[in-house]
Formats: sequence, structure tokens, C-alpha cells
Amino acid sequence: MAGNLDKALTSMTGIDLAGRFGQGWDSISTFGVIFRMGIWWIRGCFSRLRFGSSAGLMLLVGKNVTIRQPKYLHVGSNFIAQDNCEINCLSEKGLTFGDKVTVGSYSIIRPTNLYGGPPGIGLKIGNNSSIGPYSYIGCSGYIEIGNNVMISPRVSIYSENHVFDDPAIPMIEQGVNRSFVIIEDDCWIASHSVILAGVRIGRGSVVGAGSVVTKDVPPFSIVAGNPAKIIKPRKN
Ligand SMILES: CC(C)(COP(=O)(O)OP(=O)(O)OC[C@H]1O[C@@H](n2cnc3c(N)ncnc32)[C@H](O)[C@@H]1OP(=O)(O)O)[C@@H](O)C(=O)NCCC(=O)NCCS
Repeated sequence: MAGNLDKALTSMTGIDLAGRFGQGWDSISTFGVIFRMGIWWIRGCFSRLRFGSSAGLMLLVGKNVTIRQPKYLHVGSNFIAQDNCEINCLSEKGLTFGDKVTVGSYSIIRPTNLYGGPPGIGLKIGNNSSIGPYSYIGCSGYIEIGNNVMISPRVSIYSENHVFDDPAIPMIEQGVNRSFVIIEDDCWIASHSVILAGVRIGRGSVVGAGSVVTKDVPPFSIVAGNPAKIIKPRKN
């Protein structure tokens, strides 16, 4: 990328962009990205006015992004909401994101039913963590995601279950049990995984593609399958 431009953008964002648009990136593609990010930044300038709080210069909002009840949303610096994502914010604890959090295209964050009912609990995400495209984060219970967590595309996280105790009553009328999900620092949740309510995924763990995680995952383990089982530790 042109020398002075990458330095200026690096100092504005705090992200080292020098190596990003090197070999393999022709100048039209590079400027295409920068132009698009410029549009996202302008959109972000307007969007953030309605947020509960936001930090830093760089806040990017893609096209067709829906952010409902934004006063419950608190973001750190370098927040990115990619095209077509839907972030619903009304919740008891709100949505609190650290620095460098990205919400991927077409993903949905939903703490509360869209048509009323009691507000859900909410979502906390640490620094440098991302939610992959087409993911679903159902944070009607409390979901806490740590620092440096990578959530790949099409991951679903559910923090509540429907009550189904009484077979004589339609389940839809029996309410829900709210719970939690905790994903500790430095985890990788690979694509198409499902994380169920009441689960803690220990620090430094990997959840293999397509896993259904029904129980706690010890720190530094690699789990896979349905139900997810340890296939090996990450540390010997
Ligand atoms: C979890 C993962 C990282 C493990 O990779 P690895 O360390 O190379 O593991 P291995 O290939 O040695 O597999 C070890 C065993 O676990 C099994 N296994 C690995 N991943 C599995 C999965 N996702 N589901 C079920 N079983 C799996 C393997 O079949 C193998 O079983 P075996 O010993 O009976 O032959 C990888 O399999 C995976 O799921 N990658 C995710 C890819 C992805 O989502 N990318 C998105 C990027 S954004």
C-alpha cells in the first residue's frame, strides 16, 4: 500500500496495516477496500451517535446493518459491524464489547424477543474477538466471550432452553430457563458449531467444526463431534 497512506491509517487505527496490502493486492483492489472502509466509517460516525458509548476514531458500520435499541450498546475502539448483520441490544446488562470486536456479515445477536416480553440478560465480549458471518448469538441468558476469541462462520450459541416438563401443555406456553455461556480467552470455535446453555469453554481451547458442545471444556483442549468430546489436549 502507498507508504504514507498506510502509516496514516495505522496511526489512526492502532492496527498495523503495513503488511496487509502487500504482495497479491493490486492497487485497484487495495483502494477498493480503503474506499469501502471510508463509506463504512462515515456510516459509523452517524450510527455511533445513538450508541450507549463508543471509543476511538475508528468505528465501521457496513451496509444494511440493523442495530436496534443502540443505547444498550457499548463498544471499544475499532468496532466493526459487517454488512447485513443484526444487533439487538435491549437487555438487562446490555451489550458491552472491548476493543477490536467484529460482528460478521449476516450474523444475529438477539438477547430479547423481537415482539416484546421480558428483556434478556445480555452479552459481554473482550478485546480482539470476532463473531463469524451467519452466526447466531442468543444472549437471553448471559453470554461472556473473552479476549482473542475467534468464532468462525455459522456458529450458534444458546444461553436458554425451552421448558418441556409438562407434556399436557404446549411447550411454547411453558416458558424458558435462562442460563449462561462462558467462552474464556484465546479460544477458537470452528464453523457450524453449536454451544448449548450452561457451558464454560476453558481458556485456549479449540472446538472442532460442526461440534455440539453440551458440557464444560477444560482449558487448552481440542474437542469435536456431537456431543463434543476431547480429541486431544493442546498442551502436552
Ligand atoms: C478441530 C481441528 C482444528 C483439529 O485438527 P487436527 O488437530 O489436525 O486434528 P486431526 O485431523 O488430527 O483429528 C484428530 C481426530 O479427531 C477427529 N476430528 C477432527 N476434527 C473433527 C471434527 N470437526 N468433528 C469430528 N471429529 C473430528 C479426526 O477425524 C481424528 O479422528 P481419528 O483419530 O479417529 O482419525 C479441525 O479438525 C477442525 O475442525 N477445523 C475447523 C475448520 C474450520 O472451521 N475453519 C474455519 C476457519 S474460520
